[in-house]
Amino acid sequence: MNDNYLKLKAGYLFPEIARRVKAFCDGNPEAAKRLIRCGIGDVTEPLPDAVRTAMHAAVDELGKRETFRGYGPEQGYEFLRSAIAVNDFRAKGIEVADDEIFVSDGSKCDCGNILDILGNRNRIAVMDPVYPVYVDTNVMAGHTGDALEGGGYEGLVYLPCTEANGFVADVPTEAVDLVYLCFPNNPTGSVATRAQLEAWVAYALRHGAILLFDAAYEAYISDPSIPHSIYEIPGARECAIEFRSFSKNGGFTGTRCAYTVVPKSLKARTGAGELHPLHGLWNRRMSTKFNGVPYIVQRGAEALYSESGRAQVADLITHYMGNAAVLREAAQGAGLSVWGGVNAPYLWVKTPAGMTSWEMFDRMLAEAAVVITPGSGFGSAGEGYFRISAFNSRANVEEVGRRIRAIAW
Ligand code: MLT
Repeated sequence: MNDNYLKLKAGYLFPEIARRVKAFCDGNPEAAKRLIRCGIGDVTEPLPDAVRTAMHAAVDELGKRETFRGYGPEQGYEFLRSAIAVNDFRAKGIEVADDEIFVSDGSKCDCGNILDILGNRNRIAVMDPVYPVYVDTNVMAGHTGDALEGGGYEGLVYLPCTEANGFVADVPTEAVDLVYLCFPNNPTGSVATRAQLEAWVAYALRHGAILLFDAAYEAYISDPSIPHSIYEIPGARECAIEFRSFSKNGGFTGTRCAYTVVPKSLKARTGAGELHPLHGLWNRRMSTKFNGVPYIVQRGAEALYSESGRAQVADLITHYMGNAAVLREAAQGAGLSVWGGVNAPYLWVKTPAGMTSWEMFDRMLAEAAVVITPGSGFGSAGEGYFRISAFNSRANVEEVGRRIRAIAW
């Protein structure tokens, strides 16, 4: 067996929350009927009409011998790779070629899978708090030592994101080889300015480091000065891989479709110290270990770029960000300190004096029947905070707002 799995602390955060919520519901069947989940960032609104129409048409194509399709290209169908490269990048003046796009079944999967093409002796930096997948996949791959007493794992470089730095870590003083960046950030909802991203790109080029840039929430950026892609920064094509997802913009969390951009100009060092492009390695990895996203799903994703698809995505974003505004106002009205929820669907809230994140989780569950995510589940710098997800119906978030205000904090 892979002993590295034994190093992993407790369960993955969300299954652990699910376990606690189930125990609460089993013990409090009446309260369970009022339960509102603002924990995991899972979308609640139906798939856009444009997507469903395209999927229905694709199903019908597969129902006829003349238009039936079996295995598709492992990298994604040309029609989707091209729609992505044109609409998400080239139309915005960002250089990305169609064949630098690799369509996949999710950014979470790709964030873990990318380790297949990277070495085992890299020094790896993550933010703290951090989306747990970046850390746990490295633990599983044996890239860390044991779990540390105070949280985290031996061998990783943790970059604290605090109130003082606006929850955007500064570049480290030491040299690292790999850096995970997530903007808009999960869990804090912070965004990085152009100047901050320029500093990261300059750092990576200086140290020969690679930035793993998770932009799964880019559609939520409303501030026109905030970059949506790391490739808006000159030099990023030489040092960054970007992960994008249709989960949170098109509502594909269950449908599954995402993509990863690996520029052909991105090189990494071989064990012998020579520079070698990564694009071919990722292509090889996908061809060997993946058989592509279903045709029906890729046709659905393509429809997100149609005129009606774009309008429907915009409506979804408006809806979730309207929820974020309701939750922000309620939490602030209750006297709590709140960050995020402006360019991101997550609110990062300070627990009232003296409460730990899990105590807050238990109190919200017991007194308000609301599920939130404890900040400490994202890392030790998350202790003393909790995350509220804005992915919900408007009626539910309004009710959550009333319940937050009703508690005597
Ligand atoms: C979250 O709640 O952090 C997200 O749903 C996780 C994910 O997208 O995998």
